Amino acid sequence: MDRIRTNRPASLKMFDFSDTESGISYGSTENEIEVNTPTYSVSLMDPIEAVMKPENVLEKFVEVGGRRYLNDDTLKSLKYYLPSDQKEVERTYDRHFIDKTMWGGNYSAPVSDNLSLGASVLDIGCGAGAWIMNMALDYPVSIFVGIDIAPLFPESHPANVAFLKCNIMDGLPFPDNTFDFVRQAFVIICINWRSWKEKVVKELIRVTKPGGYIEIMDIQREIVNPGTINEKINAYLEEHFYKAGINRSSCAGVIDTFNEFKDKVIVAPIEERTYYFGKKAGRIGEATLKCLVEAYKAMKIIFTHIMRITEEEFEQMLTDYEKECNEVPLRKERYRAIIQKRLDACGG
Ligand SMILES: C[S@@+](CC[C@H](N)C(=O)[O-])C[C@H]1O[C@@H](n2cnc3c(N)ncnc32)[C@H](O)[C@@H]1O
Repeated sequence: MDRIRTNRPASLKMFDFSDTESGISYGSTENEIEVNTPTYSVSLMDPIEAVMKPENVLEKFVEVGGRRYLNDDTLKSLKYYLPSDQKEVERTYDRHFIDKTMWGGNYSAPVSDNLSLGASVLDIGCGAGAWIMNMALDYPVSIFVGIDIAPLFPESHPANVAFLKCNIMDGLPFPDNTFDFVRQAFVIICINWRSWKEKVVKELIRVTKPGGYIEIMDIQREIVNPGTINEKINAYLEEHFYKAGINRSSCAGVIDTFNEFKDKVIVAPIEERTYYFGKKAGRIGEATLKCLVEAYKAMKIIFTHIMRITEEEFEQMLTDYEKECNEVPLRKERYRAIIQKRLDACGG
């Protein structure tokens, strides 16, 4: 089986944030803090590489620890650790609606008039397509294309939607100046920083029409006000991604990479939101924490590997983590960077 269903009307109604009364003001920021990074070394990707056995070579997906992973050679070079299964599809749909609530909309770039009149839109690393499915209904005369290395796309979708399985490392399979709006959310963490700087940014600019917009939504910095367990988890992740050449605190870096193409693009000031995780931040806080814990659970094979802990210790750590976040809400920053391709810039 290489496709799975993602239409899930029941759970899309799961969260209703209309009565959120957290008493916490969103949008504030705080200084970064130092973390003691663990100092032992581990080999990357061992648990996933271990299931990529020759006898599985024809399988699109492999199962490990009760979760299904994409069985693709590219996984060895990509650093993408989340599973490709129904549970993950559901988590990303829930996360999509959290983001929409936090930002008060699906995008920040000034593209709404264009979308209403009929624009061409590309979502890079679209995952299960939650954003596209939502946008395609809001803007029926616009055309939406989603690309991803993992084919988690919904089987049925509106006529103004197309999904394509492709690896952005191979370049984007579109002519120059194709899209009015190019969007990418939470993909930076999957891309080696060198490839981002030398390849991906150029491709994003190339396929955007002159006058069109690029919007990057991603993680600003993981550690804002950590509790003990959060600090520990982040320290391990920080080291792990650092070794993989991935820039986790990426916003300033992302802006810098676009600024290197000043003759082609104009970079607007970034927008930020502070997300709070845990019961004290109301219903949205509960929902964001649930999503985060689900993501960590989905990465169990990586965590047990890099932290050198058993599955039981890992489960206990997550239970304690939830408690910690429910006592003092965890804060994480997210940003949207908006970049316009200059009207006189053509192609890449
Ligand atoms: C954290 S998920 C974000 C998904 C979606 N944008 C969202 O906000 O829910 C990152 C996505 O990027 C995709 N991805 C990672 N590396 C990729 C690559 N080299 N080419 C295409 N897609 C990639 C993954 O398969 C995954 O669906």
